[in-house]
Amino acid sequence: MAKHWADLQYEIYLNGMTGAVPRLPTDLTRLEELTEQRLGPGPVGYVAGSAGDGSTARANRDALRRRRIVPRILREVHERDLSVEVLGRALPAPLALAPVGVLSIVHPDAECAAARAAAAQGVPYILSSASSTPMEQVAEAMGDAERWFQLYWPKDPEVARSFLNRAKAAGFSALVVTLDTPMLGWRPRDLDRAYLPFLHGVGTANYFSDPAFRAGLAKPVQEDPNAAVMHFVGMFADPAKTWPDLAFLREHWDGPIVLKGILHPDDARAAADAGMDGVVVSNHGGRQVAGAIGAADALPRVVEAVGDRLTVLFDSGIRTGDDIFKALALGAQAVLVGRPYAYGLGLDGQAGVEHVIRCLLAEFDLTLALSGHATPATIGPADLIEESA
Ligand SMILES: Cc1cc2nc3c(=O)[nH]c(=O)nc-3n(C[C@H](O)[C@H](O)[C@H](O)COP(=O)(O)O)c2cc1C
Repeated sequence: MAKHWADLQYEIYLNGMTGAVPRLPTDLTRLEELTEQRLGPGPVGYVAGSAGDGSTARANRDALRRRRIVPRILREVHERDLSVEVLGRALPAPLALAPVGVLSIVHPDAECAAARAAAAQGVPYILSSASSTPMEQVAEAMGDAERWFQLYWPKDPEVARSFLNRAKAAGFSALVVTLDTPMLGWRPRDLDRAYLPFLHGVGTANYFSDPAFRAGLAKPVQEDPNAAVMHFVGMFADPAKTWPDLAFLREHWDGPIVLKGILHPDDARAAADAGMDGVVVSNHGGRQVAGAIGAADALPRVVEAVGDRLTVLFDSGIRTGDDIFKALALGAQAVLVGRPYAYGLGLDGQAGVEHVIRCLLAEFDLTLALSGHATPATIGPADLIEESA
């Protein structure tokens, strides 16, 4: 019998008989406000902030909010199974932790704590290139649990090649290439404080530990950290890359490759034509282009364009179990969650991340059952109606 994630609800009520209540809210939309109260303004601004006046982040929520579920009754929902196959990997539920860089700004255990939480719950962890912990250390913290590596594609091909080799050797099974960040978006909350952790050597661990990166330095990182930071800044992203460059990745990575940051159906088709395995429909949680389309509004057109050729994943705005349901109904095979788990980490370390995963999946399991489904496979467009904007 598959695990019933919804049982968390009984666990909470039963624990309540001894007077215990959950340490964090079970309505995950409340985590942002709590984080604003408890963490310093620099880190909170970095995590909660988005591009421009925040309109894209709001559009993400609004695009999900406008879709309403139409529940069905009297269907057999007693035995349920949330498991799915994504990119040839068996997952317990259609959820992965999105790549979120520089997690040490919210908690000293940083990526290792998030990775351990993902491993404990069986959910894939996607490690950012911009992590505050070297990828080998994160891999070690996870044992043989499912992990994918997110590439910010460095200008220097030797460093790119080295990252891919290291990730492969450390057991990362899929490559997620983020292409919506050839430069940083305009982020007023960070700009107003002149807050950018990378300039202080935070979020640079994969680079500073990399032999190919270090080969480009005149002095070791410890002897001249500023020069190392500047070398990082010079190669972190490459606005000159175009579609033909993807051949390099296909040549140096033999597992699945997923392009993250796709919003236009033509870009999704180009990804398929370039031999990629999947896309993540995402606007980076509204952190890159202010005024951009809400990610869930972009999803159906991408699914229509490439749903039969590529794995379509989704992120940007997922906060609750019913959001997961809606994304699946719009055609995604699985979703990634970003900020909520970063808040969970900041508020309660590994336990906070596990809380976020368990609440999301318990609520998703209940939404599934209460809407008349026993597996994600039967969710479809007929389960939703769209309110007018
Ligand atoms: C603090 C922060 C750091 C992020 N760092 C990365 C990163 O290093 N690589 C990446 O591909 N996406 C990064 N993202 C974007 C997430 O992977 C994801 O697309 C986004 O958070 C999803 O939106 P949500 O926060 O609304 O769930 C980051 C997002 C946040 C909030």
